Amino acid sequence: MGVKLTFYGHACFLIEGGGAAIIVDPFLNGNPLAPVKAEAIKADYVLVSHGHGDHLGDTVEIAKRNKATVISNFEIATYCQNQGVEAHPLHIGGGWNFPFGRVKLTVAHHGSALPDGSYGGNPCGFLISIEGVKVYHAGDTSLTYDMKLIGEEGIDVALLPIGDNFTMGPDDALRAVKLLEPKVVIPMHYDTFDVIKQDPEAFAKAVEEQTSAKAVVLKPGESFTYP
Ligand code: NI
Ligand code: MN
Repeated sequence: MGVKLTFYGHACFLIEGGGAAIIVDPFLNGNPLAPVKAEAIKADYVLVSHGHGDHLGDTVEIAKRNKATVISNFEIATYCQNQGVEAHPLHIGGGWNFPFGRVKLTVAHHGSALPDGSYGGNPCGFLISIEGVKVYHAGDTSLTYDMKLIGEEGIDVALLPIGDNFTMGPDDALRAVKLLEPKVVIPMHYDTFDVIKQDPEAFAKAVEEQTSAKAVVLKPGESFTYP
């Protein structure tokens, strides 16, 4: 039992719980570090944090083949619907109770243009509540004091970018942990490109020395189950 998170590289996680398989930011076929190809993914829902290619990734293919529902902001949901995919639009601060649990979109400071240049709305993170477990996927974002408010909801597992250059780096991600006060932190969005090479073990060590959170470093393909 518990909620199982499998890391597929970059910002992609498969979350299994509440009777559903939910994939977040499935950038697989374009990512040489991804341990699986899009055609191997079985998912009921696809969550997309923003329009950039390293997050939208293989969303349309996975959603079509699985008859999965895309959950994203209004602009990206509409973009997917226009390609024949089921989608449930949400927007920042809003949530919806799905059969597996609740998804709420959170603030992320970043960009969100779609690969064809169309407007992707505001980027987001996700607060996902499944079987009483709260998972926060930050998306691509800077450190923001809004994380204090997000943390007030009681985060069990926080998935945080540490790559720097495009998002928070390790130092700001450590400050984010102090605002969020999650029970577990899993770093993401590093090593995929030369400009985001990082040492996740050094980040994990700093988290465990300076906060009460447990840090879990997953290699692509590895899983973590909470609780
Ligand atoms: Ni991005
Ligand atoms: Mn990105």
